[in-house]
Amino acid sequence: MESEIKSATLDDLNNIQKFNLLLLKELNKNCNQTNNCDWSLSKKGGEYFKERIIQNSGCVFIALINNKIIGYLAGSIQEKQYYRKTINSAEIDSFFVLNKFRRKYVGSQLFKTFIQWCNSKRIKRISVTTPYENIPAIKFYRKQGFADYDLILESIIK
Ligand SMILES: CC(C)(COP(=O)(O)OP(=O)(O)OC[C@H]1O[C@@H](n2cnc3c(N)ncnc32)[C@H](O)[C@@H]1OP(=O)(O)O)[C@@H](O)C(=O)NCCC(=O)NCCS
Repeated sequence: MESEIKSATLDDLNNIQKFNLLLLKELNKNCNQTNNCDWSLSKKGGEYFKERIIQNSGCVFIALINNKIIGYLAGSIQEKQYYRKTINSAEIDSFFVLNKFRRKYVGSQLFKTFIQWCNSKRIKRISVTTPYENIPAIKFYRKQGFADYDLILESIIK
């Protein structure tokens, strides 16, 4: 399915926040996550996505069908990590396609546009964090050439 991919503008901000809420709810439901669903539509959530839309260090791309948003990808340039060899890197911060449009290469189109943005910024390494239970997304990322790097372990202290 050919969707149209565009850079988001501030007119899309509210829709992106709503899609982010859908993402957090889905991750909480399917992946036993602790995402705060109040954040997406909050002032702080709005400021977070606004920064990514307007600042050079961030990007938000939206996928549209018949002028209706069906998915988005938000990314940003990563802060340099002092303990790692210096290499320009960026990360996918959040990424979501409406369920009924999945497996139609909409995610692939958004990802391709993100890579073009990375190329324009001379980014050489990209990363993404996703719950270990999120098998569909992990399969998607592997298909795009990602390989395991870090493993985060958590424990509840009783
Ligand atoms: C991850 C996501 C954005 C992928 O979007 P999509 O439009 O469905 O992905 P595509 O159709 O471009 O998939 C491309 C390839 O990725 C792999 N893939 C994608 N979804 C898959 C799934 N559910 N199961 C197995 N492989 C999958 C396949 O190899 C697929 O190619 P194929 O259909 O020819 O086999 C989408 O599944 C989604 O929104 N998931 C919920 C939110 C989420 O988990 N976001 C990531 C959080 S970091």
